[in-house]
Amino acid sequence: MIDLTRHRIVFTPSGKRGEFEDGVSVLEAARKLGVDLDSVCGGRGICSRCQVEVIEGEFAKHAIYSSRDHATPWNAVEQRYVDKRGPLKPGRRLGCQARLCGDLVVDVPPESQVHRQVVRKRAETHPIDIDPVVRLHYVEVAEPDMHDPSSDFRRLRDALAAQWALGEVRAGLPVLGRLQKTLRAGEWKVTVVVRQGQEIVAIYPGFVERAYGVAFDIGSTTIAAHLCDLESGEVLASQGLMNPQIRFGEDLMSRVSYVMMNPGGEKELTAAVREAADSLVGAAAAEAGVARERIVEVTVAGNPIMHHLFLGLDPTELGGAPFALTLDAGYEARASELGLNIAPGAYVYALPCIAGHVGADAAGVALAEAPYLRDELTLIADVGTNAEILFGNKDGMLACSSPTGPAFEGAQISCGQRAAPGAIERVRIDRETLEPRFKVIGSDLWSDEPGFAEAAASLGVTGVCGSGIIEAIAEMFLSGIIGQDGLFDGALAEKSKRIEAVGRSFAYVLNEGEPRLLIYQTDVRAIQLAKAALYAGAKLLIEKRGAGAPQRVTLVGAFGSHIDTTYAMALGLIPDCDLRAVVNGGNSAGLGARIALLNLAARAEIDEVVRRIEKIETAIEPNFQAEFVAAMAFPHASDSFDHLATAIKLPPRKAAEGPRRRRRN
Ligand code: FES
Repeated sequence: MIDLTRHRIVFTPSGKRGEFEDGVSVLEAARKLGVDLDSVCGGRGICSRCQVEVIEGEFAKHAIYSSRDHATPWNAVEQRYVDKRGPLKPGRRLGCQARLCGDLVVDVPPESQVHRQVVRKRAETHPIDIDPVVRLHYVEVAEPDMHDPSSDFRRLRDALAAQWALGEVRAGLPVLGRLQKTLRAGEWKVTVVVRQGQEIVAIYPGFVERAYGVAFDIGSTTIAAHLCDLESGEVLASQGLMNPQIRFGEDLMSRVSYVMMNPGGEKELTAAVREAADSLVGAAAAEAGVARERIVEVTVAGNPIMHHLFLGLDPTELGGAPFALTLDAGYEARASELGLNIAPGAYVYALPCIAGHVGADAAGVALAEAPYLRDELTLIADVGTNAEILFGNKDGMLACSSPTGPAFEGAQISCGQRAAPGAIERVRIDRETLEPRFKVIGSDLWSDEPGFAEAAASLGVTGVCGSGIIEAIAEMFLSGIIGQDGLFDGALAEKSKRIEAVGRSFAYVLNEGEPRLLIYQTDVRAIQLAKAALYAGAKLLIEKRGAGAPQRVTLVGAFGSHIDTTYAMALGLIPDCDLRAVVNGGNSAGLGARIALLNLAARAEIDEVVRRIEKIETAIEPNFQAEFVAAMAFPHASDSFDHLATAIKLPPRKAAEGPRRRRRN
């Protein structure tokens, strides 16, 4: 006999199904069946996270006839929500209000799922589920009663247990300190932010729908903060500023020596970076119109020295061999301990460091690019003053760092500057006349196009940025102005006024206007040293792995994201491989921090991956020096560049020891 008081329900897309008593809500049925249907308000009709759509029709597969009438009619709670907050999408109901009165097939749209997926480039390998470390729970707490004395915190815990089935949650003193005022301000209705089902990190009066997090990428030169909605994963604001530690030293090592030479110096550096981070939180919160106390979780990626200084750990040991880290695993600290003025119980999660030279920024890159999930052997280079290099695939990863120096960032280059409006970023040199043309940041016009002079006059041509230097030197090599060894062909000075004798050497005049911009022999040399370090590091990892050409190369970081991949290969920054497999990866360290912010499982994943990465110390590798010397040549002294040769015309290789024409050096 059919039991008319029980009804069947099937949820899509999960396919989960069950049978329930008449009058059970769709939300209750979903919970019992383990269907991923969201709720913040606990079924009170105020959050609308539980939206579902009844699918009508005959479903032979499930032997169900589903109709909208098989759910109880639209009710006053739903109407109150719509009157206050605007209409739901057509066909939608609040799952906590619609109750079973017949058989139903119910669709859970993506925005009603707790574990949503963000579409992003990692989707090539696998998408990221949004599953943050915190959850919001709206509760109604019993008021104090003289006849049944108990503390406010006990009654709050009882409410969380009864209404959300949460066990004994704890709370730190900063959270407890605000509890009584918050409960009374919310008239005993509050939204509680619970971390990992165990600890209360914030309590807000009334119903609060969203919480936020900040992902930091702390670089030696710049610090970037991305404020994210922890529910949608969306970046609501991004702010950046120069790392104020620059006043203690341009590069990392000079900051470590500052610490070594000035007792207590590490405290000054820590205070500077924490202050900057807190001011970025303020700026990002203001940009997004979000109150600071609604920020409940923070993640941090940064090189080992920045990672240590931000956490307040002395980086002295990282200044010299054997480069011992204080801490390498992912680490959680209270935000208040790190000087961040956000939710009272919020935590900061710092990504793990791979090695003394390969930091939490490289771990962020690994998480974002996920080479450890791929079949292809992937080479990833994060190029800054130190190149952090990862190589491998799902069968194993290796990592090293290589001292490229600041040349790629425009430092140590006579006309170099950071990427900013007015900086030359693209260069072409006519193979016959050796005349250059270029583009500057801020204008789409080439310098030989009409209108460029006006654009340049307003922008001002100020110097050459890292990607411009790469192109200028690659074009000089491809035009024969400099040889494979990087030396000027001085004979060309007779052919073109662009090649000028300077002292005992030569220079190439890139811009005749004001300022006059020249590329000197010393500039070429600085780029040779930087690119040789990068290439030798990559080669070392490839050889350790016993592999051939990489099947995929990703250049990440501010510089790596902007350089032209063909020119990068023409100069020999990276080994020869199919050019179509070389890509600019963007700010992967920051993206990795964002993934760790949005997905709790990603933290365990990267911690485990980092432990398995084989760390190579270039300084003690016997082959490194020989590889470095061979990599000084353009593109390389002995390695063939067959793939590259199919894409561009390379100058003929000179015999190893040919007579030199009028070279001065
Ligand atoms: S659970 Fe909040 S509106 Fe349904």
